[in-house]
Amino acid sequence: MPAPTTAMMYAGQDLAQIQKWIEGQKLKAPAMKDAPPFYRNLEAALDERRAGHNLVTLHRFEHKVDFSSNDFLSLATSGMLREAFLKELERNPDFAVGSTGSRISDGNNAYMESVESQIAMFHGAETALMVSSGYDANCAIFSAVPRPGDAIVYDELIHAGVHDGMKTSLAATQVPFKHNSADSLRETLVSLKESQSLIRQGTRCVLIAVEAVYSMDGDVTPLAEIVQVVKDIFPAGNAQIVIDEAHSTRLVGKNGRGLVCALGLEKEIAIRLHTYGKGLGAIGGMFDFASPRTGRNARYRRLFFGRLTRVPLIAAILANSTVLNTLLKLCSARHIHDGAIVSNARGDPRRLQDRVQHLVRRFCENIEADAAWDEAVTAGICSMPVSHDVESRPFVTQFLPVWTRQGQNYFLTMHLHGDGYTAIPIDPPVVPRGTGRVRLIIHAGNTDEEVQGLAASICRWAREMLDIQESKTPGNEMPSAMRKVYGLAQAVDVHGLDPSKLAANPFE
Ligand SMILES: Cc1ncc(COP(=O)(O)O)c(C=O)c1O
Repeated sequence: MPAPTTAMMYAGQDLAQIQKWIEGQKLKAPAMKDAPPFYRNLEAALDERRAGHNLVTLHRFEHKVDFSSNDFLSLATSGMLREAFLKELERNPDFAVGSTGSRISDGNNAYMESVESQIAMFHGAETALMVSSGYDANCAIFSAVPRPGDAIVYDELIHAGVHDGMKTSLAATQVPFKHNSADSLRETLVSLKESQSLIRQGTRCVLIAVEAVYSMDGDVTPLAEIVQVVKDIFPAGNAQIVIDEAHSTRLVGKNGRGLVCALGLEKEIAIRLHTYGKGLGAIGGMFDFASPRTGRNARYRRLFFGRLTRVPLIAAILANSTVLNTLLKLCSARHIHDGAIVSNARGDPRRLQDRVQHLVRRFCENIEADAAWDEAVTAGICSMPVSHDVESRPFVTQFLPVWTRQGQNYFLTMHLHGDGYTAIPIDPPVVPRGTGRVRLIIHAGNTDEEVQGLAASICRWAREMLDIQESKTPGNEMPSAMRKVYGLAQAVDVHGLDPSKLAANPFE
């Protein structure tokens, strides 16, 4: 028997992951009649998900080319960041690993405060506050900042962390406005002002929640317009904007200072949130304030009752700054004005920000030039609004969502996995009903060849779907990657598999 090739081994590993998921969908409670009620009830609740084939199981697709992680500057995997992190720890040899106490009791220290000052200065803010994650930052802001009688107005696609923060907020009025629509925001603010006398009189406030870059659509908030609308309707300043820069910190603006800095709006935005677990390749969250007087000492319950991992988290944040500063120096030594370079394993040093811009544009050109893609878009099989007119746009984001028909985002996901690329299917409730998609993320460390390969793989899938639609493959109504999955499901006796529930969706 011939020895298995690496490709065969990986295909085997992938199928094992999928098989694990399929097996995870088998009902458990019926076989637990004699088990203690605590365990039986728990499994009975999970069985409701299993019955719909949508129990989330953890998966691993480690050997593939990364088109799904949030490490969009490829720093998390960069040896430079690891090295800087270890050096930073060496500089603080006596550090305590744990937090020792919550921030308001014993958990505060000079190291933490100095990093907060540095970060605030970097972003042109007055002060900053560190928390364990971006999710925590959103929860902390929206639960602690609004006062009774205040209102929160939020973009309808705002992140789950804002919603979770709002659940414990004292602001009883919480109203969405249409995604990225300054007109819809204007209407919402006008109607709020008309209906709430204290807000109209300026004694109660409105907090407006937006994201700089929306990861599900890959679009950018019209921030300058939003600032103008808020000033028009509330000239006295009792309406303020909170912006989440999770996907723009270090990717947008000079040296990656974010969208607010890129637009020169530092003084107009009350609170900015930065995550360190995404483009910055570390972990943690930070929010900064335009005002030196208020914000930092609000009653953030997460800081009172939760603990931060101290030195390791801060060291990772600092290491990130060190790496980027080193890269910046290297850039200027090479007469490159701003941005940073990555010297990845493939030895292709370029500026990180520019590298993402270049690769996204390259991907869009490739896909738009392929006849199969064009035909599939015309046939309504798929589309990618962000790929249009990229040449005329001054800035593109790292996100490339491919919209498909209901449930077929799983067909494309399986196809891409089969070709060696990671991809994540996104479904409601994360996105509105009927708008399932595959979210692709481009990284500074991806090569041109990988990005071209990704575009070609999507176009092969598009051709396969066209052939199925045009009945050119009688008897095969499923694309080949899905046929393998159905074969597996039958082998482990799971029937009626719903493709729209096929992959573990970590966002639900
Ligand atoms: C817009 C936005 N804000 C905040 C977060 C949470 O960040 P973290 O991973 O640091 O908790 C995410 C992560 O999914 C996000 O997409």
